[in-house]
Amino acid sequence: MRSSRMIPPARVLLPLLLLLAAGCTDAYKPVIIVHGIFDGPKELETLSGFIEEAHPGTEVILIDLLNYRSSMEPMWKQVDKFGKVIQSIMQRSPEGVHLLCFSQGGLICRGVLSLIPNHNVHTFIALSSPLAGQFGDTDYVSRVFPDRAKTKVYVFCYNKLGQKLSVCGYWKDPHHTSAYLRHNIFLPLLNGEKPHSNMKEWRENFLRIKKLVLIGGPDDGVITPWQSSHFGFYDCEENVVEMKNQEFYVKDTFGLQTLDARGDLSVCVQSGVKHVEWHSNFTVFTTCMEEWLV
Ligand SMILES: *[C@@H]1O[C@H](CO)[C@@H](O)[C@H](O)[C@H]1NC(C)=O
Repeated sequence: MRSSRMIPPARVLLPLLLLLAAGCTDAYKPVIIVHGIFDGPKELETLSGFIEEAHPGTEVILIDLLNYRSSMEPMWKQVDKFGKVIQSIMQRSPEGVHLLCFSQGGLICRGVLSLIPNHNVHTFIALSSPLAGQFGDTDYVSRVFPDRAKTKVYVFCYNKLGQKLSVCGYWKDPHHTSAYLRHNIFLPLLNGEKPHSNMKEWRENFLRIKKLVLIGGPDDGVITPWQSSHFGFYDCEENVVEMKNQEFYVKDTFGLQTLDARGDLSVCVQSGVKHVEWHSNFTVFTTCMEEWLV
């Protein structure tokens, strides 16, 4: 019969369907990596190697942009530039992507996730990022402000000129909170500490992620306080207040409490890891990252 020829026999169709199903469920999603301040894609090659080894066939994209000195450009400018590259990768990856961002890169990625509607990021990993701000005389800070003690940096940072430097965008002096809120044009908006008209939209965009993974630890040496890597920060007496008691969490200004209540927040604290070693430590990779990059 002529009509029966139109239907492929089961022995042809079934393996084909199985093959398609396997292709859909087994492929690892692409992983996009964003570097930190004073580094570039080269420094993160070990990490991309870990991913390829653990999950063969994964497409790992190390974004080659605003490297080294250029990583000091203003935060919103970086959000815009990285956002364009990340958006183009997402558009050719309809199955979704993962975003793995190191140090300052974690804040850039949060900016991208807040600003891009309809993004398809599944897991967002912030690897030792100063998510609640930075207040410390660390090696990195002294490279930017050679002669300034941490108590004086606010003078430089909290004005129009200072805000042209990336670090000033997340410099949070707990003794000068009102100046921080008034003059810092990046972190107070991102954290919703300073209300603004895009808050609802940014929150919705950010909440499209399926999983938020925060990684950090007490021996970091750069992120200060180190608890900032999971949204803890100093009060005005420099005592650390944990994430759940931060106003942005309690008020759920950008979706953090919602993510936590949804069961989609994972915090991984590891000791014995220095700031520049987070991305090359295999134990950190297997303990904190591997399971989410599928
Ligand atoms: C790697 O990380 C583990 C914790 O996950 C830590 O105990 C160890 O000291 C680290 N190794 C190096 C070489 O940093």
